[in-house]
Amino acid sequence: MTIHEDAVTNPSNGPHLNDLVDARIEDAGRRGLLRGGLGLSAMGFIGGGTGLLAGCGSDDSPAPTAVAGTTQTAPVALTRPTALGFTPVAKSVADSVSVTAGYTATPIFKLGDPMTASTAAYRNDGNDPAASFATRAGDHHDGMHFFPLDANGQRSTTASDRGLLVINHEAITPAFLHPAGQTISGTGNAAVRTSAEEVLREFYVHGVSVVEVRRATNGTWSYVQNSSFNRRIHTLTDVVLAGPAGRTATMATKYSPDGSRTRGTLNNCGNGYTPWGTYLTAEENWAGYFRRIAAVDDPKRNAKEKAQNARYGVAGTGRELWATVTPDTGDDLYGRWNAESRASTPAGDYRFAPNTYGWIVEIDPYAPSSQVKKRTALGRFAHEGAWPAKAVVGKPVVFYMGCDSRNEYIYKFVSARNWDAADANGGIAAGDKYMDDGKLYVARFNADGTGTWIELKFGTGTLTAANTTYAFSDQADVLINARIAADAVGATKMDRPEWGAVDPVTGAVYMTLTNSNAANRTLASTDAANPRHYNDVKGTSTNQFGNPNGHIVRWVEPNGDTSATTFNWDIFLFGARATANAANVNLSGLTAENDFSSPDGLWFSNKGVCWIQTDDGAYTDVTNCMLLAALPGTVGDGSTKTITNTDSTGATKQVTTRVGAAPGTAKLRRFLVGPKDCEITGVAETPDGQTLFINIQHPGEDTPISAIANPAAFTSHWPDGGLARPRSATVAITKNGGGVVGL
Ligand code: FEO
Ligand code: CA
Ligand code: CA
Ligand code: CA
Repeated sequence: MTIHEDAVTNPSNGPHLNDLVDARIEDAGRRGLLRGGLGLSAMGFIGGGTGLLAGCGSDDSPAPTAVAGTTQTAPVALTRPTALGFTPVAKSVADSVSVTAGYTATPIFKLGDPMTASTAAYRNDGNDPAASFATRAGDHHDGMHFFPLDANGQRSTTASDRGLLVINHEAITPAFLHPAGQTISGTGNAAVRTSAEEVLREFYVHGVSVVEVRRATNGTWSYVQNSSFNRRIHTLTDVVLAGPAGRTATMATKYSPDGSRTRGTLNNCGNGYTPWGTYLTAEENWAGYFRRIAAVDDPKRNAKEKAQNARYGVAGTGRELWATVTPDTGDDLYGRWNAESRASTPAGDYRFAPNTYGWIVEIDPYAPSSQVKKRTALGRFAHEGAWPAKAVVGKPVVFYMGCDSRNEYIYKFVSARNWDAADANGGIAAGDKYMDDGKLYVARFNADGTGTWIELKFGTGTLTAANTTYAFSDQADVLINARIAADAVGATKMDRPEWGAVDPVTGAVYMTLTNSNAANRTLASTDAANPRHYNDVKGTSTNQFGNPNGHIVRWVEPNGDTSATTFNWDIFLFGARATANAANVNLSGLTAENDFSSPDGLWFSNKGVCWIQTDDGAYTDVTNCMLLAALPGTVGDGSTKTITNTDSTGATKQVTTRVGAAPGTAKLRRFLVGPKDCEITGVAETPDGQTLFINIQHPGEDTPISAIANPAAFTSHWPDGGLARPRSATVAITKNGGGVVGL
């Protein structure tokens, strides 16, 4: 489990669903409906034959409209395969990639790999020059997408032997990046980084890589070191702040006094892609990088600014202490990470620099010199990614998004303009057209299996200047402070939304809720959509209460209308040990062949296979993180269940939830297990489905810094083996002899 991802800054106390659940059970009891599935069959939850579920794959729904220029959507109604075509792989704690029999998994792009002809080979001893990282693979590979290239180097929708991988580099494992970890002097608020070289190296290894990859005639994949498409985007890259919050007063910094630009992108976690051929990268745990000592700075701030910093967690020394390097450069290379009010005006310092992070960022990989843009219409939070609904000509473009922190929310964006297939190769200009103007919604999951998308629109409901908790001033204020707006409208607090994915067969949207703990998913706050509070015994630790194994929620909007403001939901899968209590914990009937914990990455192949990746710290006494494949059914294909939760005091609470049909090992099985201390994240495929790319992030990250001089004590040496320092890397997976991966 990656560190730094657990900050909880949501103090609002309105939107837990337990009260609704209790009210509904009481109400249903009065009406004698408890034995009748809470009346849900009448609402289309069970059976799937009513209008609420029409358009989600039923035989009589119209065939989806063909979409030109996209590779992720089905050209015609797609039938999901009926069986997975591989043998489940066993759980493992070995320091190796364990892939199912008959497949080959090859690391092809590793931390430090040179991305120009003149960049030296990676030494991997901590001494590679900092400046060289401007043209090397970054660290902590995360979200990723494959953009096909034809033989002429032009954008293709079908090429499967050549393309551009765009890869996020979320964070760093400091122990292995420098000679002996970070050089720090002093402690607490007085701690400072004393090596500018090390900090510069860290500036470059965060961000995004665009790298060309090719498959040789013998089937072997490799990256192209001297490709003219290769590009690094990092914390020093100039970025435009596009959309309604750009060029506004609270985006002003010394770098860009008019608030039109910022420098860099950071903590790029999950991702997305657009129907017009661009990549979306998500800024997740950016808040922790800024230095802002609250006791020093709060007295200089007004009430709204204090509320903003509190809600987004901008407080502390900065996780990597970047602001502490002295002397600074003329362009504030280090001081721009200090978010304290220090000058007479915001344009004289970086007090509002945090407002320029926390966005969905658009990159055109096919145009190496194109401007990078942050799309502010999609709201500012701890973005995990942005996943498009199937683009339909004449309909708005829709993206689903999650805010990855405990008790945070699920959002969607609906464009103002309708999709025109002529924009299929539109690049960043198409992004200007579709992503700078639209409606931002946040999700409320009702206890009855329905849900509501609530628009975050200034001037409506509680989003006005009259709000006594937080006086909203305009739509830019709502977007920059989307978490505060979502609190105000009563959205549903979820168990850490990670990746989403849209099922090409049914149009249903799946989203992983990776886990929560006892403090954040208390017994009292369990609700229909986040229903579990239990103890998962880990090794000798007998106190792992909350929802430590996570679950995967899914929903579908009525009649295939992705811009609708209502939806129906259920829970596709519950993470659990196969040995856990079947009535209250292992609700999806997981077995030794498919049990998992902490789902994170999620991807639907264009054949309809659902790939699930884990980023886990709960089940790691038994297994390293893994990749599984599933063949899901439809929203509402299971049943309602009432479970009994138990907390550490022995107190109990019953919650009624809706559980998707148990897939069994025929339709859910483990495909791959990663090396020590890694998470499996990032997933992309070639259009022919014959190559799957995944990322292995932070192998060996639990190695104590005290072991850095003793390579034999590193917890991992993957992928280079021997006594090498471990490296995050992209892995290409193919079926021996060819064929679609997983089937
Ligand atoms: Fe960076 Fe949400 O995982
Ligand atoms: Ca991570
Ligand atoms: Ca993640
Ligand atoms: Ca995670």
